[in-house]
Amino acid sequence: MSVTNSPPESVLISESHLQNRIHELGAQIVTDYENQELVLLGVLRGSVLFFADLARAIFRAQVENPVREVPLRFEFVQLVSYHNSTKPSAVELIRGGTDYLEERHVLIVEDIVDTGHTLKFLHEHLWTLKPKSIKVCTLLDKPSQRQVPVAIDYIGFEIPDTFVVGYGLDYAQQYRNLPYIAVLEST
Ligand code: IMP
Repeated sequence: MSVTNSPPESVLISESHLQNRIHELGAQIVTDYENQELVLLGVLRGSVLFFADLARAIFRAQVENPVREVPLRFEFVQLVSYHNSTKPSAVELIRGGTDYLEERHVLIVEDIVDTGHTLKFLHEHLWTLKPKSIKVCTLLDKPSQRQVPVAIDYIGFEIPDTFVVGYGLDYAQQYRNLPYIAVLEST
């Protein structure tokens, strides 16, 4: 497939649909973590747009309900997955600013959970840093592709087995800045 900047044709989740759901997730997170400090841990690079909108949705939910406070810290990790015939799903941490997670509540913010290998690896790594709790919030979930079981606490949208781009998700580093989720048409 030739990679261009022209947007893919088929919109799977529109911008307004995304934003409405993120607003709901923010409200749910504020209810669940009421008056507790939370570390939002973004997984680079795909979660960046979702992370930013979710953080603002959490702030807005507190403004709507001022008795509930959830002070936020931001943290980021970057992982790389190697998919090849000899080692189908090796995951490696290539950037992990995870200094101050000990005794803190951590919410992993993911763009998409597909086979589950990335999340399983990250979960196991984070537990070695002795946080008080770890939960997971993913914008997209492709349950039909799961190879290892993973627990997900907050899901934006379940999607079918199709390759999607936009709103942080890429194909060969393209399309990340689309404000919606689209199906990549041709290969
Ligand atoms: P997993 O380890 O198979 O769950 O893979 C998770 C990672 O694969 C995500 O963080 C994405 O970077 C990438 N990925 C999986 N499905 C898609 C997709 O449909 N579009 C773009 N990236 C995807």
